[in-house]
Amino acid sequence: MKLAAFLALALTTAACVLASDSRYSGDQVIRFDVASPEDQAALQRALNNDALGLDLWSHSGNKIGKIDVRVPATSVPQISNIGVAYKVLVQDLQQVVDAEREHMGKNSEVLHNSLMSGEPVQLAAADIFTDWQSYETLSAYIGGLPGVTQLPSIGKTYQGRDTNVFKFGTGPYGIVYHGGIHAREWISPATAAYVTTQLVNNTELLSKFTFYVMPVVNPDGYAYTRAANGDRYHRKNMQPNPGSSCIGTDPNRNFDIAWSGPGASGSACSETYYGPSAFSTPESTNIANFVKNTPNVVGYVDLHSYSELFMFANGYTCSGQVSDYATLFKGAELAVDAIKATSGHSFKYGDICNTIYQASGGSVDYIYNKLGVKYSYTIELRPNSAFGNAGFNPPVSEIIPSGQETTAAFVAVWNYVYSQLSGTPVPTTTSNATTATAPVSKTTSAATKPSSSTTATAAACAHNVCATGGKLKASCSACARAICAKDSYCCNTSWDSTCVREVAQYCPDVTC
Ligand SMILES: *[C@@H]1O[C@H](CO)[C@@H](O)[C@H](O)[C@H]1NC(C)=O
Ligand SMILES: *[C@@H]1O[C@H](CO)[C@@H](O)[C@H](O)[C@H]1NC(C)=O
Ligand SMILES: *[C@@H]1O[C@H](CO)[C@@H](O)[C@H](O)[C@H]1NC(C)=O
Repeated sequence: MKLAAFLALALTTAACVLASDSRYSGDQVIRFDVASPEDQAALQRALNNDALGLDLWSHSGNKIGKIDVRVPATSVPQISNIGVAYKVLVQDLQQVVDAEREHMGKNSEVLHNSLMSGEPVQLAAADIFTDWQSYETLSAYIGGLPGVTQLPSIGKTYQGRDTNVFKFGTGPYGIVYHGGIHAREWISPATAAYVTTQLVNNTELLSKFTFYVMPVVNPDGYAYTRAANGDRYHRKNMQPNPGSSCIGTDPNRNFDIAWSGPGASGSACSETYYGPSAFSTPESTNIANFVKNTPNVVGYVDLHSYSELFMFANGYTCSGQVSDYATLFKGAELAVDAIKATSGHSFKYGDICNTIYQASGGSVDYIYNKLGVKYSYTIELRPNSAFGNAGFNPPVSEIIPSGQETTAAFVAVWNYVYSQLSGTPVPTTTSNATTATAPVSKTTSAATKPSSSTTATAAACAHNVCATGGKLKASCSACARAICAKDSYCCNTSWDSTCVREVAQYCPDVTC
């Protein structure tokens, strides 16, 4: 354990404030049932209305569906005016915050404080994954795993914390993954740590790849969400904004790609504030520099929560597809298959813009397009909206299942990537979906059964036939959604397997 490196932080991070903040008293979490484009527009108008102060929490895989929003107490009387059906998930959010903090204080803070005081502490997985641990605890734990070395910090944060990075594996290809770019998404650092625990023993993957993990890349924000006098739902970094009382820039809107474009806000109080200039946050700059300066990086994963989505570039635009779309889509498909086989959870997948929403200045877009790291993904971890009202506050019992399913996804996608890079077959252990090892072979194998019915939509969809020379057309998911909306079948046996899968995920009722 490399405790010395963390001691310097003890003064700034010791949780010693007893007074409890109560900023979320009377706030509610509302689950909107977005059933139509009209609902979508109405909710978007409400989200854009700064006076309401709504805070978007979850995302629906194809933008229609259940969407969770935090409504400040002062705006609660206006919820019904938004005009979208909803139910109240959380009556008083402060109670959720208080309950979580009380539990944490008894466990992870005790561990954290012992660690900071230099006492010899045993950092066993059994202790680590039963609570939401501090940045310092997670770092010390990862640094102590077999075969892991700590590299020099990738750079300081705004508040002067070191951004810790750990390396393991001996393979020729580099993979960078990290948690905690958004402060309140606590399951992300925990999952990064759990995945690392599993990967360090995976000798097969360690011979193929060298992994670099940053458990928390926005540790200032993370500490602020954990502090008793902090803000549990702070998402951004901790840079002040001149002329505003609102703190922070969203590091994941601050990368130098379509910076300040659609899907990011110029308002300092917005959770998606893009900042005064591209790379104005040290946190995004640190990530970019590290990936740029590390040799042979072929893969990248940015872990977020929540909504259960597995995605890749582009986020900044919804039109067109990246040149590696089919390959990235196949990797995502194998990963979500592995998740399904592990936990039964069904993650949706696709490019960011068409799967979640338009977002400019994001990490994956930058690292894929500007740094040329082909296998760049972002995951929205559990829970999703089918999972009670947990949102950003899943019970600690969710850490291990999240870690297990994400490990399965990593194993599947990195084995696939290795097979792509080396020209060897994907190991059969990943899943049966490995039949499509070659990047989206057009017609042949899948969907051999003739359609059970073809309707008027078929003609429209034939226009949008997804496979043209092994490459997906942008219209594929739009076509799939159109099918859903019309609630009819559009099975064309000449569609490639990827497209059939895409239809299947957007239209669970459609059987081809
Ligand atoms: C990894 O291997 C070590 C040493 O063999 C063992 O102690 C540990 O329990 C293993 N971890 C996992 C998650 O299997
Ligand atoms: C894989 O395929 C075999 C044989 O086709 C089948 O028995 C098995 O259930 C499949 N496994 C999965 C996970 O689909
Ligand atoms: C299926 O797609 C092909 C193009 O790949 C097209 O020629 C054909 O007409 C389509 N069939 C139907 C039933 O839409």
